[in-house]
Amino acid sequence: MQGINVTAKVWERLLAVKAGRSCTCCGDWSADERSALALYGPLARRDLGPLSVAQIGQSLDGRIATVTGDARDVSGPDGLAHLHRMRALVDGVVIGVRTALHDTPRLTVRMCDGADPARIVIDPRGRLPNDAPVLQDNGARRIVVQAVGMARPKGVEVIRIDATDGSLPPARIIEALNAAGLRTLMIEGGGITIARFLEAGLLAHLHVAIAPLLIGGGPQGLTLPSPSETLAHAIRPDCCVYSLGSDVVFDCALTARALEARAPVHGAA
Ligand SMILES: NC(=O)c1ccc[n+]([C@@H]2O[C@H](COP(=O)([O-])OP(=O)(O)OC[C@H]3O[C@@H](n4cnc5c(N)ncnc54)[C@H](OP(=O)(O)O)[C@@H]3O)[C@@H](O)[C@H]2O)c1
Repeated sequence: MQGINVTAKVWERLLAVKAGRSCTCCGDWSADERSALALYGPLARRDLGPLSVAQIGQSLDGRIATVTGDARDVSGPDGLAHLHRMRALVDGVVIGVRTALHDTPRLTVRMCDGADPARIVIDPRGRLPNDAPVLQDNGARRIVVQAVGMARPKGVEVIRIDATDGSLPPARIIEALNAAGLRTLMIEGGGITIARFLEAGLLAHLHVAIAPLLIGGGPQGLTLPSPSETLAHAIRPDCCVYSLGSDVVFDCALTARALEARAPVHGAA
């Protein structure tokens, strides 16, 4: 496991990389600063083309909330700082409507320097009320991806995608967001939303941030619509593990090789 040290110099460099003014390879860095650049560099780079990643914060027993729905905050302080850094480096943050309704998250950057990302809610049936906090104007773009013709407040962009069996094809969502100028995306939850992008093979990385607490019950992090029936068909990502301080993050690279074993399940679906 590698430690990370996000010094002011590291963070300035990452923001410069995001702005296309610098690279992550050159410079004189300590080992922990280099680890931080390795962890966040892919999110900051814009020269690699469109990129989608997901992050989920969970307990040691794989829960993302309690049985009563208390989800704030499963992650410890360093896990939260990690999430805010990811927000600051991407163009847009995507959540499912259940998270928007339940957590009323702001999706802003508050624990580090950096611009707020565009906020995107996937709301196929138009369940999100127009006065939801996530749609309020704070200067960042606000987008609803929906299958219905529901009108949204001035300034809120609507991407309309037809549902297939109640689901909006994840690839079409990403294509539409990329076409809207949002090339680097973080799927922030919840588990249902992340699972759909993961199963469609659209995520380059999945960050699983684990906080040292046992909740004992409540919603689980990820449940795939088509789970592996045998361990031979499990997804085995290439993982780098980093100590954030209070929490540990598994940076899982979902390469074609890692997803290869899933092919028979996809083929059957
Ligand atoms: N610990 C963490 O990192 C974290 C982060 C975020 C949220 N959470 C917790 O997660 C829970 C909510 O997560 P969740 O998994 O239940 O729900 P969710 O992922 O927030 O939202 C799922 C809903 O979004 C819509 N949706 C998403 N992708 C879709 C697609 N491709 N096509 C059609 N509809 C799509 C559907 O809406 P319809 O239901 O209208 O069909 C779906 O039921 C809350 O307890 C929240 O606190 C934890």
